[in-house]
Amino acid sequence: MKYDYSQTIDFLLDWYQLNARILPWRENPKPYYVWISEIMLQQTRVEAVKAYFERFIHALPDITALAEISEEKLLKLWEGLGYYNRARNLQKTAKILTSDYGGELPGDYHELLRLPGIGSYTAGAISSIAFQLPEPAVDGNVLRVMMRVAGSFDDITETKVKNRLENDLREIMPKNRPGDFNQAIMELGATVCIPIGKPLCDKCPLMHLCNAFKNHTEDRIPVKKDKKPRQITERTIFLIEQGNKYALFKRPGKGLLAGLYELPGTEGKLSPDGVCEYLEGEGYLVEELVPLGDSKHIFSHVEWHMTGYRIRLKEFAAEKSIYEAASENDKPQAVWASPLEIKEIYSLPSAFDYYKKFIPGIET
Ligand code: ADE
Repeated sequence: MKYDYSQTIDFLLDWYQLNARILPWRENPKPYYVWISEIMLQQTRVEAVKAYFERFIHALPDITALAEISEEKLLKLWEGLGYYNRARNLQKTAKILTSDYGGELPGDYHELLRLPGIGSYTAGAISSIAFQLPEPAVDGNVLRVMMRVAGSFDDITETKVKNRLENDLREIMPKNRPGDFNQAIMELGATVCIPIGKPLCDKCPLMHLCNAFKNHTEDRIPVKKDKKPRQITERTIFLIEQGNKYALFKRPGKGLLAGLYELPGTEGKLSPDGVCEYLEGEGYLVEELVPLGDSKHIFSHVEWHMTGYRIRLKEFAAEKSIYEAASENDKPQAVWASPLEIKEIYSLPSAFDYYKKFIPGIET
């Protein structure tokens, strides 16, 4: 039987009035601010996003500035947030908005949906929070809260389940405070009806309406069908230092961390002797090698299990590009960067944080 979500509206709005966190993009919910914050919030917790948001808006105060910045500087501003294609899509959209929409986001759900990087969640969030349009914004938080309230064991990884919830909520969206309604559910999901550990049901304004609470099923809802386990890749990372410069290279334009700089490395976990042998095979003689230990980075579908070494090459070898040996066609673009350049110019993804901190003056 269909759950009547309209009964949640007043409880959610009253609760939100008292419990909404003060957040930089809430003080002035301009469409541009809502858009940037919602894209950042898709991958990072609210508390961590605050500082990224402030820095981003300070550097790029409007859509025109976002359209015009170089990709390198944009990726540097995005460093640490991950999912760099989201930053690239922000810029694609900013360019379209500048050329076709007078430099503003359109106040129309369907027009928003046509823009790169804007799906139903983001279109709903911008429509409701910035333009007060009665559109739902259904993300993982909202699915969890609403499946629990309804006591539904539907699998939330299925598109049809998300679509159905969007349709059900669209029918009952309060016309006067749609943005507050959406944010109230998100906020409840983030702070009370939490995903990990026991939800704080005694603090929940929907407790008396919640079927999961009534039936003691909150720990079994939401249902998510088993995801494929992440693929594990072992890698050896080289922090190659020469005269206060460090070797970086640009990854290929497609695939994981596409087009971003990285510390060089190779597949497999190599021993110190293995590293010397590998680099010698590439034509480079190792002067000094220090093991830096193991680290792990979890991407959405892959895990990197890494070991790393700080390496100094013999002088004559270091004068060559370390990737000179690569074939002409897929020769990666190598650069030697100073710590200051690594700090201010090149974006090194967080996968390398553990090794990056061995570079003097870089804290992660
Ligand atoms: N998570 C994603 N967007 C949010 C918002 N606008 N408020 C609270 N939590 C959120």
